[in-house]
Amino acid sequence: MSKRLPQRGGAERPVGEPSGAAPATGTPGDGTAAATGPAGPLPHWTNPLRDQGDRRLPPVAGPCGLVVFGVTGDLSRKKLMPAVYDLANRGLLPPGFSLVGFARRDWADEDFSQIVYEAVKEHARTPFREEVWRQLADGMRFVPGDFSDDTAFKQLRHAVEDLDAARGTSGNYAFYLSVPPKFFPAVVRQLKKHGLANAPEGSWRRAVIEKPFGRDLASAHELNAVVHEVFGPDQVFRIDHYLGKETVQNILALRFANTMFEPIWNRSFVDHVQITMAEDIGIGGRAGYYDGIGAARDVIQNHLLQLLALTAMEEPASFDAQSLLAEKLKVLKAVRGPADLGRDTVRGQYAAGWQGGEQVVGYLEEDGIDPGSVTDTYAAVKLEIDNRRWAGVPFYLRTGKRLGRRVTEIAVVLQRAPHSPFDTEATEELGRNAIVIRVQPDEGVTVRFGSKVPGTSMEIRDVTMDFAYGESFTESSPEAYERLILDVLLGDANLFPRHQEVEESWKILDPIEEYWAAHGRPAPYASGGWGPEEADEMLARDGRSWRRP
Ligand code: BG6
Repeated sequence: MSKRLPQRGGAERPVGEPSGAAPATGTPGDGTAAATGPAGPLPHWTNPLRDQGDRRLPPVAGPCGLVVFGVTGDLSRKKLMPAVYDLANRGLLPPGFSLVGFARRDWADEDFSQIVYEAVKEHARTPFREEVWRQLADGMRFVPGDFSDDTAFKQLRHAVEDLDAARGTSGNYAFYLSVPPKFFPAVVRQLKKHGLANAPEGSWRRAVIEKPFGRDLASAHELNAVVHEVFGPDQVFRIDHYLGKETVQNILALRFANTMFEPIWNRSFVDHVQITMAEDIGIGGRAGYYDGIGAARDVIQNHLLQLLALTAMEEPASFDAQSLLAEKLKVLKAVRGPADLGRDTVRGQYAAGWQGGEQVVGYLEEDGIDPGSVTDTYAAVKLEIDNRRWAGVPFYLRTGKRLGRRVTEIAVVLQRAPHSPFDTEATEELGRNAIVIRVQPDEGVTVRFGSKVPGTSMEIRDVTMDFAYGESFTESSPEAYERLILDVLLGDANLFPRHQEVEESWKILDPIEEYWAAHGRPAPYASGGWGPEEADEMLARDGRSWRRP
């Protein structure tokens, strides 16, 4: 069993309740600064144990605020607001942290904080504590208006200036665009016009952008141009929430902190890699977003290609954003899409069926979906990587809604032993060795290998060795959005895809989408199953089969 680390953060040090050591010095806003508030220096922001050299403790964000556009949306309610509270509860937000909501609602500050309160009560990961909530709520403001409304943006500017004066946010603000991309141009241009995009001397301004980053290479390009009219590359943080998951970050730890995996992590030992992101849910209330986008654009372009990049890339020179980008980019550029798109890609659409004991409707019967829609809710593709490490090793990626179970995993499936001294009957139940990174749920890693079945005969069967987060560590994993919001406030860009990666990913997907658009309809598959038969056939042709997680 692994050594237990001390609890990180600590709920004893909520927002605004500094931890008591001498003020720290450092760069404003990088999590190490002592700040000056309206009434002289505010209490220090850093974690004293960290100052004394314990790097395992997370840094605390420096003085700052967060402005959320699209604050009435689902993402904000279920993920962003609860994550902000959880960060506050873990003592990782600065004392004067302020949260500004912007939306087309006729709300006062109190109405906004009531909505956030309900979201926190329902979705926060950590226990509710009244004193943490009070302190957070004191820094909440709401600005009503739409994106073309100059008066609203003037009001936003005043809100930010007031908060600087009242709570010592020091001009440091992140603007979170939790809105559909068609609104990006209006929002960023308004931020520029009203002087909000430019940081006052000694402070920072950042833009946080949610996916989808376009619907193909050309539109991603346009979107990027619009954002960069206003914000510099280092000011833009693109969210791929999979990179905020502990288990995804663990891919790098597993590969590069150990000696036992890397020697076999190549074409000499690996037969193929399967990356699966299966969901049991349907599209829920997201028809407006999903229809016309589909599974491949929704998650292969971003989450699954990021998983592929982390699994296949070379060791970075260090773990800073530039080095990570360099390696991810290199491997994404080496990805080769299928030469035969009809053979090595499959798309499907869920039909009615049974899910978790309930009868569910098919995609075409969902509210808000065009009954003639050809949108894919399932996608599987076979990719190859043209480099020395991976030549000839297929990477099979699949994702789908309304599948048998919610599971995301990366299975690195090894070749069979070159020679077997055992009878064929003895190894009938021996599959291929595999290393499976269980991204979610049941987070952990499984190693599968053959073992002798107890008894007099030499019979060999697959067994597994498991690492489970829940058993090895006492602390529970933070939600992806907690980590990512904190990193934005700290200005740490490691876990955010850069525009070049986004473009390379579209280059992989565009030919597939174009082929699909020109060739018929997605294959129907029953809800609650494992996708269309065509996907099984795709692997069977290669002498392989999908794992049934
Ligand atoms: C989002 C997709 O990026 O990821 C959704 O837009 C999907 O369609 C979601 O449901 C899944 O996220 P998670 O963290 O639950 O695996």
